[in-house]
Amino acid sequence: MARARVLVVLMMCARAVVAPRAVVASESAHSVLSKESWATERARGRGSTRARTLLTTATDAPRDLAGYPAVRKVNGTSFELAHAMDGVGTTHWMARAAPVSAAPTPAQVKAGNDPGGGIVVARGSFVNAVANVEAVVIVGGLTEDTLYYVSTVGESGGTSPTLQSTTQTLSVRTADESAPTIGSFTYAANGNEIALTVTLSDEDGTVYYVLQHVGVPAPSVQQVLDGKNSSALPAISSGNMQLIRNVPRTIDTTGAVGLVLGAQYTAHYVAVDTLGNKPSAVSSTNVNTSPMPPAPNPPPSPPAPSPPPPPPLVASPPPPSPPPSPPPTPETDAPVFTTGFPKVDTATNSSFKLHAAMNERGVLYFAVFEGTLAQITAPTGAALKAQTALVSDPALRHIGVMYLSASTTASRTFNSLKPGGKYVVFAVGEDDLANMMSTVTSMDIELLDDVAPTSTWSATLSGTQLTINATSTEKGMVYYVCSTDLMANLSPNDVKNAADIRPRVFRHGSFELKNENVQEYVTLNVGYGRDFIVHILVEDKSGNHVNVERSRRIVTLTAPPPPPPAPSPPPALRVERDEDLMISMFVLTYSALALVILYVLVRACSQYGMASYRANMSIRRRYMAKKSLLAGKTHALMKAQEQARKEEAEVGKKMIKGYADYNEYDIMEGGGKAERGAHYREVHADVNARQLARERRLDALMSLSREKEDELRDKIQK
Ligand SMILES: *[C@@H]1O[C@H](CO)[C@@H](O)[C@H](O)[C@H]1NC(C)=O
Ligand SMILES: *[C@@H]1O[C@H](CO)[C@@H](O)[C@H](O)[C@H]1NC(C)=O
Ligand SMILES: *[C@@H]1O[C@H](CO)[C@@H](O)[C@H](O)[C@H]1NC(C)=O
Ligand SMILES: *[C@@H]1O[C@H](CO)[C@@H](O)[C@H](O)[C@H]1NC(C)=O
Repeated sequence: MARARVLVVLMMCARAVVAPRAVVASESAHSVLSKESWATERARGRGSTRARTLLTTATDAPRDLAGYPAVRKVNGTSFELAHAMDGVGTTHWMARAAPVSAAPTPAQVKAGNDPGGGIVVARGSFVNAVANVEAVVIVGGLTEDTLYYVSTVGESGGTSPTLQSTTQTLSVRTADESAPTIGSFTYAANGNEIALTVTLSDEDGTVYYVLQHVGVPAPSVQQVLDGKNSSALPAISSGNMQLIRNVPRTIDTTGAVGLVLGAQYTAHYVAVDTLGNKPSAVSSTNVNTSPMPPAPNPPPSPPAPSPPPPPPLVASPPPPSPPPSPPPTPETDAPVFTTGFPKVDTATNSSFKLHAAMNERGVLYFAVFEGTLAQITAPTGAALKAQTALVSDPALRHIGVMYLSASTTASRTFNSLKPGGKYVVFAVGEDDLANMMSTVTSMDIELLDDVAPTSTWSATLSGTQLTINATSTEKGMVYYVCSTDLMANLSPNDVKNAADIRPRVFRHGSFELKNENVQEYVTLNVGYGRDFIVHILVEDKSGNHVNVERSRRIVTLTAPPPPPPAPSPPPALRVERDEDLMISMFVLTYSALALVILYVLVRACSQYGMASYRANMSIRRRYMAKKSLLAGKTHALMKAQEQARKEEAEVGKKMIKGYADYNEYDIMEGGGKAERGAHYREVHADVNARQLARERRLDALMSLSREKEDELRDKIQK
């Protein structure tokens, strides 16, 4: 409810304040104005509930309206300064280039004198003809991309003008509207490619180049940015690289095909700053590749010498002390901030708002520094009021007062700040009777960062070790991908989620950039026989990034060099586990082991096989020999039996009925009976003996044969 009402009131104020506007030239004559500010304010029913009659004559000076003075419409050479006060009067102002040594007194602002004797770039005054209505002046003739401090002091109109007791100082940086200056452009032939080395001398930016044949018309700036030649067709070679101010960097020409050895080309190049400012014309330099017969590469050109550092600040004598404070007043209670105030909010990429409210009418002394609470020591309330000791701090951006009515919120916007910048605000309240709060309130605020960092990086191969090395103007992360797909064009998302890339990349990862402009690096083992391109993405903490940049083609040796000289382990800070190497070592070891086992097995098998084969063969041979022996014997036996049968038959044939043979018959039949009987027995005994002997021989032969056969069978069965 209360907040809504405040908002409505604020809106009414804003409308009332902004509607009529008078642009007054800084040289315009002062018109004599009646002092009616307070009456006007009261008549409109706004402002303080506390009577102004409390104030002494010393505080008859007008009070600045909340939000004033303000600087806006900043371009390269000018800005607009607006001021509004609660009474008619005059605004005196002066502008000085940073750094400044001291805060000016109100009188010095009015007179346009720098307290340290420094140069006042511009000064003047303009009339605030109507109370509570802003008047503006355009402060011109400035230099682009330069920090200025503009100080103002208000003075009441009327017959006895009264100057305000406090000055207000705002910093404003004029816009950068120029392309970066190319400090140096050198080249070195590198076989059928050319290494181009560039330095930007005044600001960060990106250098774009295209190569054309010598003597053809130069391309336009846009064509160089697009990688086109002057016929608007893809150039022989084109590329770009980001550069940090004063840090040389080299880009190797690349293209679908290499350049021709011993040929001359014209490199056309353009440098664009981070705001997109580009030159009106391209720069051109003739460059050439290595001569036809392969000659050793010339040594790389030395980096351009960096310009001398800016001259040191000259300390100036301390400024005169501020005007004496008004005489003591009866009230001694310091004012108290309304709960929840002061506060800062509405951070955009270049501005934020300070809101303040306290229980008494008075002023809020404040100072805005670039940095954080941890970096900036809080000033005392007296120092905030006096300003003097604070203005020489190069981190100071704004210092001044906000005039507050009792229990009413007043706001002031600070703009022209750095995107993503960190600021700290110190504030202390003081009532109209100069009772100051005993403590200074401090507040931190970080602006929205929507600006990509500028970075520089390199990928250097040493043996199989790849070192990726990066520096950025902002803290953040470096994402890298090593891809053997030489034609791959990876998006920022691809590089950040490299595990999802198909076909899979062989190395990817990231490392943190912990500090601005401090180099960090990572060392990877890429192994032998690799041919790849490194893709890099540098991203700040807010996720801003430019493009994925590609390295030139990197090729490692196909195999390790023969004698490893003193294999000392490289003292790598970060050792990455080399999966591929581990896998190949694993595979190799186990393959070797398997081979050995297989060999032993085969040897054993074959040996065993041969021996048993040979043994079997000899057994078989012996068996065959015995078999044939047996066959021979059987045959002999058969023959013997046959013979015996034949003999028997013959005997039979020869025997004639009871006679052994014809001889016996003859004898028997020729002789006497007794003779015949004796002869008969004789003959039979003889025949029987012969028969028996034959049978015994046969039996022996048979048994021999059987014995042998058994023996043989036994042997075979064994
Ligand atoms: C800057 O602004 C002023 C006034 O607003 C204008 O006259 C001037 O031409 C501008 N300069 C540039 C470079 O735009
Ligand atoms: C531009 O490139 C095309 C194709 O490579 C080529 O035919 C043409 O001659 C080039 N133009 C110039 C001016 O170099
Ligand atoms: C700041 O933000 C505004 C609005 O979002 C945008 O137009 C402007 O380009 C930004 N400025 C910078 C420096 O990023
Ligand atoms: C990083 O790169 C620079 C320039 O290429 C080189 O001088 C420096 O030694 C590199 N740092 C590391 C750790 O490799």
